Amino acid sequence: MSNAFADGKAASAAPPDGLAVLEQRRSTAETFGIPLAVLAELTHRCPLQCPYCSNPVALDRGGSELTTEEWKKVLGELAEIGVLQIHFSGGEPTARRDLVELVRHATDVGLYTNLITSAVLLTREKLSALADAGLCHVQISFQGNEPVVADRVAGLKNAHERKIEAAKWTRELDLPLTVNAVMHRQNLHQLADIIQMAVGLDADRLEIANVQYYGWALKNRAALMPTQEQIEAASRIVEDAAMRLKGTLAIDYVVPDYYALRPKKCMGGWGRQFFNISPAGKILPCHAAESITGLEFDSVRSNRSIAWIWQNSEAFNRYRGTGWMKEPCRSCEYREVDLGGCRCQAFALTGDAGNTDPACTLSPMHEQIFKDAEREAAAGENRFLYRNFAGGTLETEGEHGA
Ligand code: SF4
Ligand code: FES
Repeated sequence: MSNAFADGKAASAAPPDGLAVLEQRRSTAETFGIPLAVLAELTHRCPLQCPYCSNPVALDRGGSELTTEEWKKVLGELAEIGVLQIHFSGGEPTARRDLVELVRHATDVGLYTNLITSAVLLTREKLSALADAGLCHVQISFQGNEPVVADRVAGLKNAHERKIEAAKWTRELDLPLTVNAVMHRQNLHQLADIIQMAVGLDADRLEIANVQYYGWALKNRAALMPTQEQIEAASRIVEDAAMRLKGTLAIDYVVPDYYALRPKKCMGGWGRQFFNISPAGKILPCHAAESITGLEFDSVRSNRSIAWIWQNSEAFNRYRGTGWMKEPCRSCEYREVDLGGCRCQAFALTGDAGNTDPACTLSPMHEQIFKDAEREAAAGENRFLYRNFAGGTLETEGEHGA
């Protein structure tokens, strides 16, 4: 596929106004049109300390977060350029005191709103106020199906109990519920029970994602990496549940990269279908993009419009399409299928985001990385390095158990 953005000519000739850009560049807008859904990371603050947190290792401090008025302006601009859905995420989005106001504003400008939350800060009153403000959907993350494992992984006592309560309120308020479960070596034995828990909570959807190893998760790879046997068993459990629960619970399952032959088309391709906005207002191709050093990301605080940044910024165009690829991707028959995999994983594991994602068996680094992962999974180092603003805390025995 040709990429009119990648050669930089489009950027130099573009007018500064984003809507005008969309109008004038109809052919490219058709290829890389404004995404239908955008993720708003309202804050990096979070009461949980998950060892696989996907926020960047260097977190945005509370003082740098966009203000209420700045977020409202962003929401209005997103609606104006054709975005339909906004996912309020974090960190923990309910840590923002203005969340109800932001949901109301998003509703007023015509956006479908989804709340992606750990739920531990929610009260029934708060959730009810969010529903009244027009909240359309709630997505709650779970770390296990019972408190001993779940609270330990989250690094917070009584977290699981609070999540269960919040999930029940969600359904009582007649809001659709998605249960999100991130799986790894230390909770995969609970997968069948997590599926049953989602059914018991009357969830509409269950998203089962295996940990992706970049950012904070890479620091915890030895404690999180599953064994081949665990992954095979998990695939059988999900297959069986998907058939058995058809019509009751929709299940999305993301297979771990390290045990696949080819990588996933991460985010549907860099700068193709998605962007997110960081707490401080940077527009990013994915939640982990700031982990790639040497890329400059434009901000909603600049004098550029969001549409202009999406279409013309250097960071988005650097890895758009296939023009940036080196071998083996460049001449590979799958280059349009997976677009070379994940740029963040390629950077984390090889030091160059332009390399083939080592999850691919054709990457010269694949064999070594796969061997390292197997060795780590077998070594049994189970202690977590918890993610927090203090730069991480190593787990001590019995620290967070129920
Ligand atoms: Fe995909 Fe590149 Fe591997 Fe080919 S070589 S399968 S394009 S990651
Ligand atoms: Fe950034 Fe995959 S997470 S490209």
